[in-house]
Amino acid sequence: MEDITCTIIKPGATEKWKEIFTLIETEGFTIIRSDQVQLTKQQAEEFYSEHKGKPFFESLVKFMSSKPIVVAVLQKENAVEDFRTFIGDINPAKAKVGTLRKLYGTTIEQNAIHGSNSNKNAERESKFLFPKSM
Ligand code: CMP
Repeated sequence: MEDITCTIIKPGATEKWKEIFTLIETEGFTIIRSDQVQLTKQQAEEFYSEHKGKPFFESLVKFMSSKPIVVAVLQKENAVEDFRTFIGDINPAKAKVGTLRKLYGTTIEQNAIHGSNSNKNAERESKFLFPKSM
């Protein structure tokens, strides 16, 4: 499935989920699944398993399991790459004007929006977040 990507609206930005969904749709993405969930620590560890062992891992897991988050699967041609362009640099301070992380993020960890980094991960993340329907 090369036309889907997965996003998470992270703690700190979840209150703005409607506004963010509108921007995502205006950019040409179709929201094919969405939900509000609170990850357990174990689920956050599994979701971010490729970062295990990195200095920021423990803090990231704690942050991502601290509050409910909004998760979604988005569909568009070239979804992974186009969505990563739309969310902007991992560091909100460096993100271009108009990108979601510039608009809603504060720090590298609290950068408001996750976007899958490959088609393989988009599929893995979709199945992880929507196990019954993907
Ligand atoms: P995300 O797109 O969700 O993917 C992995 C997350 O790890 C990333 O956004 C950041 O929130 C976090 N992250 C990546 N690198 C760092 C870093 N150097 N310091 C703190 N957090 C990081």
